[in-house]
Amino acid sequence: MPFSRRSFFQALGIGAILRSSNSQPLLPDLRAGSWFEAPQLAGQSDLIRLDRNENPYGPSPKVADAIRSAVSASNRYTRGEYNALLDAIAHFHGVNPEQVLLGCGSTEVLRAAAAAFLSPARKVILPVPTFEAVEHYARSIGAQIVGVPLNREFVHDLESMHARIDSSTGLVYICNPNNPTASLTPRKQIETFLGKLRASAYIVIDEAYHQYAGESSATYSSFIDRPLADDRVIVTRTFSKVYGLAGLRLGYAIAAPKTIQQLRKYVTLDGINAIAVRAGIVALQDADGLGQFVKQNENDRQEFINQAFARMLKPVDSHANFVMFDTLRPADDVIQHFRNHGILLGPRFPSMTNHVRVSLGTPAEMAEFWRVGT
Ligand SMILES: Cc1ncc(COP(=O)(O)O)c(C=O)c1O
Repeated sequence: MPFSRRSFFQALGIGAILRSSNSQPLLPDLRAGSWFEAPQLAGQSDLIRLDRNENPYGPSPKVADAIRSAVSASNRYTRGEYNALLDAIAHFHGVNPEQVLLGCGSTEVLRAAAAAFLSPARKVILPVPTFEAVEHYARSIGAQIVGVPLNREFVHDLESMHARIDSSTGLVYICNPNNPTASLTPRKQIETFLGKLRASAYIVIDEAYHQYAGESSATYSSFIDRPLADDRVIVTRTFSKVYGLAGLRLGYAIAAPKTIQQLRKYVTLDGINAIAVRAGIVALQDADGLGQFVKQNENDRQEFINQAFARMLKPVDSHANFVMFDTLRPADDVIQHFRNHGILLGPRFPSMTNHVRVSLGTPAEMAEFWRVGT
């Protein structure tokens, strides 16, 4: 039975209590929970986790086998395997191993970029809302943070971002597809932006959700697959999303060798664990596993859109494994309602107070999501 938008939210039965604060950060307050801190709830194993954009199915059977067989090597530091993973990533992308930096998740690479290119005198320009890590690390370094709202289509407003750049800009962060909106910024616009970027500013293009965007838009293409000869461009990727390895913590950056050298100073020596290394190598080889996850996500995303439209909800056009939509009421209340029913949703984003972000779960999890919401 189709539900009207009215009945969906009436049925939530929650009041419109909007928290107000004059001194909110641009992004969710990390100290108060959300992205870095696992929620402390009773019976956690029973929770349906639609909050962190993980692959609910992964890892693939081949990667799971590699993880099991890697356990016996856990007493050893990684030696040759570390280089084997570097080589595998370089080969996969058609670059030299000197252009690859491994991190304990791509978060570590983002931290290294903040450490290398920001300071109290060198600021960062980033979209709002976006993935929180760069703002978090910039703040801890004491760098100025310049947040530029996405435009009405939820695309990076690169003209406004460019207008904020000056001689003290150390880093620009672009997230494509963007978290939390799952929206794409056209490649051409990023190229134009890069053409105008000051020589002293570096740019991170975070492609954590690249595989889900894939062919979904003619305007999108990866800056690894179609690189620009520009030492300032750092592209980040992760094994946490489509490969289903979030808990093993493995990500990487691709950039010019001298840029990688600058970043390398700030990552942990021997920071990649032996199981992640083996899993990463097999994951890159498992093209069938990857293809199945991408296909499954397309189906799950389409089903979400069908369910949303049946309730007259209007999700932001998604090119990732999560969807954001306007709930027409304070997101805090909606998030709390679902939490009370054992379902975790994404955090509240201060610049989009009525929107919630839902990571796509398995069909059974999503059925429960819609049941609780209606
Ligand atoms: C855009 C984006 N970049 C990076 C990350 C961090 O991923 P990792 O697990 O590789 O640290 C996330 C995690 O949600 C993300 O959404």
